[in-house]
Amino acid sequence: MVERPRLEADGLVRAFDGRRVVDDVSLSVGAGQILCLLGPSGCGKSTTLRMIAGVEHPDAGAIRVDGRTVCNGIDWVPPEARSVGLMFQDFALFPHLDVAGNVAFGLSGTKADKRARVEELLERVEMSDHIASWPHELSGGEQQRVALARALAPRPHVMLMDEPFSGLDNRLRDEIRDHTLDLLKEEGTAVVLVTHEPDEAMRMADEIALMREGRIVQRGAPYNIYNAPMDRAAAAFFSDINVIEGRVEGALTETAFGQFLAPGVPDGTVVDIVIRPQHLKIDFDRQGRGPLPTPVEGTPARGIVERARFMGGESLVEFRMEFDGSKLVASVPQVFLPEAGTPLWLMIRRDRCFVFPRVG
Ligand SMILES: Nc1ncnc2c1ncn2[C@@H]1O[C@H](COP(=O)(O)OP(=O)(O)O)[C@@H](O)[C@H]1O
Ligand SMILES: [Mg+2]
Repeated sequence: MVERPRLEADGLVRAFDGRRVVDDVSLSVGAGQILCLLGPSGCGKSTTLRMIAGVEHPDAGAIRVDGRTVCNGIDWVPPEARSVGLMFQDFALFPHLDVAGNVAFGLSGTKADKRARVEELLERVEMSDHIASWPHELSGGEQQRVALARALAPRPHVMLMDEPFSGLDNRLRDEIRDHTLDLLKEEGTAVVLVTHEPDEAMRMADEIALMREGRIVQRGAPYNIYNAPMDRAAAAFFSDINVIEGRVEGALTETAFGQFLAPGVPDGTVVDIVIRPQHLKIDFDRQGRGPLPTPVEGTPARGIVERARFMGGESLVEFRMEFDGSKLVASVPQVFLPEAGTPLWLMIRRDRCFVFPRVG
């Protein structure tokens, strides 16, 4: 038996002043699954989330929670009756309630039941010692953990999170993200997490839905989105990229690095061959000669080092290529800092290249 998704949205549309900022967005999230809506600022992520929460009315589309329609143009279930938890960056704790009061806020039942649930959740977010503290006495990270406990306390079937970690400093953020992830998985909540940070999406998501101008343009597991981007912009969203220009003749394109397959691309089309910096391979110069070509790495091309920087986990080496003066950047694990002016040979991994017909 296939389990029914906890959250389903079909064809959501929202326009402001005649402009569709959310344009036919559909999604589905199962129990214990985390879907990340990822995209640049202004692409419609928050508006999508607000419609699911019920604080924004869609112009079209339907939303179901556990198979129950909460919105479809006729039926309308208000936000508080949707079994949906919210955690937004600016969704602050209530300053006039202590930690226990904040976590208990959305709970019903006997006083003893509420107390038990509050204690359970504060233990899960490791905030038991602060049960009687006031929000202003807590650090940003601690407030975030209490906010998470508060959102989860009524056992929402769906949790909606809008850039919930963006107010936290880096070191704290990773820890709280992991903590949050564990807790959400344990509770079996279906989660939609909105973020503009690819790192956060890669870290948190079971599935990423990449948004652009109000639409979901690609969706898949982090590994798939990263390794099979739909176009140059999708590739560039996740890391720096190198772009090598080619022109197609007979389903092949010729470059200084040898030939690349361009199946189905008409002759004469200009293509962008996109490769991430970590998939460039560097070899030493042997009196003006490089390594022999291989089927996987193609033909080596010579570049002159312009700059090399140590970044902690990797070194970034910038090259000016001899064949056309273009710039390419290679990322090398750990420390590799050749001097400016050093000639080196570069090869590019065929299986790591993306060939896209140029648009515009
Ligand atoms: N209430 C509103 N009135 C007019 N325009 C809005 C309103 N809410 C959002 N927008 C516009 O809709 C677009 C998408 O906004 P939003 O969903 O907040 O994007 P994101 O969360 O991806 O940054 C933006 O151009 C924003 O200015
Ligand atoms: Mg937003």
